[in-house]
Amino acid sequence: MKVIVSKTYEEMCAKAARIIAAQLTLKPDSVLGLATGSTPVGIYKELIRKYEEGRLDFSEVTTVNLDEYVGLSGENDQSYRYFMNHNLFDHVNIPKEYTYVPSGVAEDPEDECENYDLLIQQLGGVDMQLLGIGGNGHIGFNEPADSFAEGTHLTDLTESTIQANSRFFEKDSDVPRRAITMGIGTIMQARKILLVANGESKAKAIYDTLYGPVTPQVPASILRFHPDVTVLVDEAAFKLVAEKE
Ligand code: GLP
Repeated sequence: MKVIVSKTYEEMCAKAARIIAAQLTLKPDSVLGLATGSTPVGIYKELIRKYEEGRLDFSEVTTVNLDEYVGLSGENDQSYRYFMNHNLFDHVNIPKEYTYVPSGVAEDPEDECENYDLLIQQLGGVDMQLLGIGGNGHIGFNEPADSFAEGTHLTDLTESTIQANSRFFEKDSDVPRRAITMGIGTIMQARKILLVANGESKAKAIYDTLYGPVTPQVPASILRFHPDVTVLVDEAAFKLVAEKE
């Protein structure tokens, strides 16, 4: 794992955006795996800026997102489809039909999961997967568990994740309890992975990911077995590692 520590969130985002821009320059028809949450927002802003400056072209790019809340349609402003449109897709020249997010309102969610893995296979796999991390070490919506889930699946969110997500919803009862997420197996098949984390609330998850045991109780720890992972953090998220070193 390559770890890049930045002083600030802005610097971290600029570096992550440069890595993604390099990927798209080298392979304009890349399949990008994308993530939601507050962490990647600054990265998407940087990518939009590069696009507006004429330095980046998304016309041949395909994207597959990690996850979606069950029960929310793409029109719901808390859905991950809405988030992606709003924070990236609406602002760059990516054809919308090349952007994939699992559907939270599929008639048969099990089918939706199976089809999502098939889709990724048909696209030839993910070239570069962007990941945030939950305070409990989750990636996508792969929550701490007794085993690593392989493919895209339905999952119950943990209480700590529901609490963390509640800041985006008016009422607690509006916060979705279930999600569709790429599995750990799906994520691990990506050719390159970028994991980004900022702020002290991620310090323990980053420490455990880099130095704790590889265990499904800290889902991100499996990334240590992936051959091409870059971890981008700010100093606050790196705090516990720095103290130990
Ligand atoms: C959600 C998403 C994850 C994301 C995490 C952290 O659980 N499913 O993909 O990494 O939130 O979000 P944030 O970046 O807002 O801390």
